[in-house]
Amino acid sequence: MDDLFGSAAARSFPTCTQVTLLHGPCNARCLACPVGRVQFGDADAASKAEFSRERWRTMPWEVFTTVADEVGSHPEAWLRLHARGEPLLHPRFVDMIAYAKNVGVTCVQAFTNAIALTEPRARTILETGLDTLECSVHGHDRTYEALMRTTRFEQVKANILGFLALRDALGAPTRVVVSAVDQPLFQPDKADHQAFWERHADAVIYRPYHSWGNRIDTGCSSVPETRHPCSQLWNRCTVGPTGNVLACFNSWTEEPTEVLGNVLDPKTTIADLWQSARFGELRTDHAAGRYTLPCCANCTDWTGSSWGENSYENLLRNRFGKAVG
Ligand SMILES: C[S@@+](CC[C@H](N)C(=O)[O-])C[C@H]1O[C@@H](n2cnc3c(N)ncnc32)[C@H](O)[C@@H]1O
Ligand code: SF4
Ligand code: SF4
Repeated sequence: MDDLFGSAAARSFPTCTQVTLLHGPCNARCLACPVGRVQFGDADAASKAEFSRERWRTMPWEVFTTVADEVGSHPEAWLRLHARGEPLLHPRFVDMIAYAKNVGVTCVQAFTNAIALTEPRARTILETGLDTLECSVHGHDRTYEALMRTTRFEQVKANILGFLALRDALGAPTRVVVSAVDQPLFQPDKADHQAFWERHADAVIYRPYHSWGNRIDTGCSSVPETRHPCSQLWNRCTVGPTGNVLACFNSWTEEPTEVLGNVLDPKTTIADLWQSARFGELRTDHAAGRYTLPCCANCTDWTGSSWGENSYENLLRNRFGKAVG
């Protein structure tokens, strides 16, 4: 299995550590996302239960700093700020990026839907030295409202263009990726989206449409007959909002068998858990075609988990010159 690691460094520490800043809150209602569907009211019963108000979580500062400190001690590793919701709504989002850069994280990448990316917020983010900001803009002139189910398209465009202009004026290092989920209803606008954002952003990418572990019916699944091991287990580690280290970003309910440990436990580290017998067993199982994790059972998202050329690591390395991997 060792040969499935992208590099020697990846054997001892995940290439990407994803911190889940929030579980629940979002200011958009995307059709492609269970969080958005809960906000809009058309989610399945399981997602509604997972995102009921009493289950909302906000990552405490101490959890974040523990993760950032460890990632900062691995020069090839990158830190991804994401959420089961909108990362910018975390009250300490900007402080977190600043902290991670101060402790030497090589590459800090964050997601946002850019709705709250107003000028004052843009300025504070740029001042942190954030490496990469991915703005998820599902749709363009004709499809944005139907896909994100907000009326903020003009505001989002202005926010991102303003962010880029300020970045250039300040000489800040942040590279901006604009992305969209490559879903059927987006297709009439995809060419216009691409033409527009390629004129402005540093990269434009289209994310393969996945089902979030069958939480949404994509209606367009073309799942290969032969399942292959999922790259998540060899290159990503997810930390949930309370510090649980999870085998996969899809472990939203954090079932006991999907939780490898907790970053606040003084007796362990992310590196220990990444190299643990339990993580090794999960990789062995995947390589042998045994999908033993509860979240893997009905998951089809492995079809879009990219190995090699199409990986995010390659974008960071080859387009943005970041020494990660
Ligand atoms: C769940 S979002 C959370 C962060 C933030 N709210 C955002 O939208 O960027 C993280 C990424 O997942 C993507 N995403 C959402 N639904 C998806 C789906 N069904 N298939 C593939 N990617 C999806 C979003 O576009 C975004 O880039
Ligand atoms: S903005 Fe992000 S978290 Fe919110 S609904 Fe859309 S994809 Fe999901
Ligand atoms: S198959 Fe699905 S649930 Fe399993 S590790 Fe891959 S993305 Fe996660």
